[in-house]
Amino acid sequence: MADNKTYFIQTYGCQMNERDSETIAGMLEQEGFVPALERDGAGVIVLNTCSVRENADNRFFGQLGVMKKIKEKNPDSIVAVCGCMMQQEPVIRKIREKYNWVDIIFGTLNIDEFPSLLRRRLAEGRQAMSVSEAREHIAEGLPSVRKYPFKSFVNIMNGCNNFCTYCIVPYTRGREVSRQPEAILEEIRSLAADGVREVTLLGQNVNSYGKADRFDTDFADLLYRVNEVDGIERIRFMTSHPKDVPDRLIGAFRDCEKLCHHIHLPVQSGSSRLIKKMNRHYTKEGYLETVAALREAAPDIAITTDIIVGFPGETEEDFEETMDLVRKAQFDSAFTFLYSVRDGTPAAKYPDQVPEEVMHRRFDRLVEALNAITAEKNLAYQGRVEKILIEGPSARGGDGICSGRTDTFKLVNFRCNPARAGELADVRITEAKTFSLFGELV
Ligand code: 5AD
Ligand code: SF4
Repeated sequence: MADNKTYFIQTYGCQMNERDSETIAGMLEQEGFVPALERDGAGVIVLNTCSVRENADNRFFGQLGVMKKIKEKNPDSIVAVCGCMMQQEPVIRKIREKYNWVDIIFGTLNIDEFPSLLRRRLAEGRQAMSVSEAREHIAEGLPSVRKYPFKSFVNIMNGCNNFCTYCIVPYTRGREVSRQPEAILEEIRSLAADGVREVTLLGQNVNSYGKADRFDTDFADLLYRVNEVDGIERIRFMTSHPKDVPDRLIGAFRDCEKLCHHIHLPVQSGSSRLIKKMNRHYTKEGYLETVAALREAAPDIAITTDIIVGFPGETEEDFEETMDLVRKAQFDSAFTFLYSVRDGTPAAKYPDQVPEEVMHRRFDRLVEALNAITAEKNLAYQGRVEKILIEGPSARGGDGICSGRTDTFKLVNFRCNPARAGELADVRITEAKTFSLFGELV
C-alpha cells in the first residue's frame, strides 16, 4: 500500500453523496494519492453507500463480498466504507462481526476525519472507525476534486428534520445544520474565480435553509445574494419541500436573472390523506396552488417531481388522486418509486402494506401518464433556440455528439466540438424525444 498511492471511489445514491465523494477525493489527493484507472488494484478503495435504494442492505453486503475477493488478491489495498449505510446500527454491527477485514468505516458526519482514520489504520494495522450521530457544525475548508471545471455542486446544509414517515434520511444524515451564508458565498466566489459558471445549491431540503439554525438569511435571501456573484451565470438548487415555498422564493424566479427556471418539487402522492400520513404538511390543492404561482412568476419554468406508488394504505381512490394531480400539475418529468420498507421508519410498521401486483399495476399506469406529458412538454421545445451549457461528449449520443442542459434542465444532444465544453451556446432544437432533445448549434 505504501507504494500504491492510487484511489478509486465508488459512489451510490444522491447528489449529496456525489458531493461528499468529491471531498473524499480532494482529501486523498492532498495526501498524495492519484485516481486509479480501475477499481481492482487501487491502493485505497472507498464505497460511498446509499440507504434509499431498494434492497440497499443486500446490495451493500454483496459489494463487500466483491471487495473481499479484491483484498485477497491485493492484501495491501485499503477498503473504506462510508455514506448513509454506516449510520445504521445493524449494518455497523454486521460489518464488525462478519467483515472485520474492512479497514476503515466512517459516517456521513465524519468525512473530514477520513485522512486521520487512514493514517491510524496504516500506523496501527487495525480497523479504524468513526461514526457520529450528531455534529453541530459543518466542517469548512475541505479540499475537493470536481468532476467538471465549469459547474459545481455547493452544499448549503446537511441533514433533514422532516421525518417523512417512509424515509430513512433523517436517521442517516442527522439533524438539519446549515452552513453560514458567508462560507457559502466565499466558496461560490472562489469557484467563480476558478472558472465555474453554474452552481447547484445542495441539501435534502434547501428551502428550509437557515431555519433550524435561526439564521437571519433564509433560502430566498441566499439566492438573491448568490445572484450577485460575478462570473456565475446559472444557479440551480436541489431538493425543495412543497411545504416551504413562500412568495419570496417564488419571487426569486422573477427577480434573479441567473436563477434557472427549474424546480424539483417532490409531491410523493396526490392524496391529501396520504400526504398527511407521510407527515409532509401540505395538501394536493396547496401543492397545485404552488405550481400555479411558480408558473405565473416564470411561465417557462420546468417542474419535476418524485412520486411514491403504494405507500401503506394507498387505496384506488388515493391513487386516482395522484393520477389527477399528475394531469393537473403537468410535470416536465418525474422520478417514480415503488414504496419499499425502510427498517426503522414509522411506515415500516404500518399494517396495510399494498400488495406487490397492485403496486406494479398502478406504477405502470402512472409512468405511462407521466411519460406522455413529458413527451408533450419536450415537443413544445421543437424549433426553439435554447441557451445550452455545453458539458462535453454525450454519454449516449455517439461520436462527435455533445450534450448539455437548457436553463430548464432539459438534456440536449447536438453535434459539437468537445473542446467547447463549458461554453454557453445557442442550440436550435430540431427533434424532441421522450427523455431528451436533439438540436444543432446556431
Ligand atoms: N420507498 C420508496 N421511495 C422512497 N423514497 C424515499 N424513501 C422511499 C421509500 N421508503 C423516494 C422519495 C424521495 C426520493 C429521493 O426517494 O420519492 O423523494
Ligand atoms: Fe426524507 Fe422527507 Fe427529509 Fe426528503 S424531506 S429527506 S423525503 S424525510
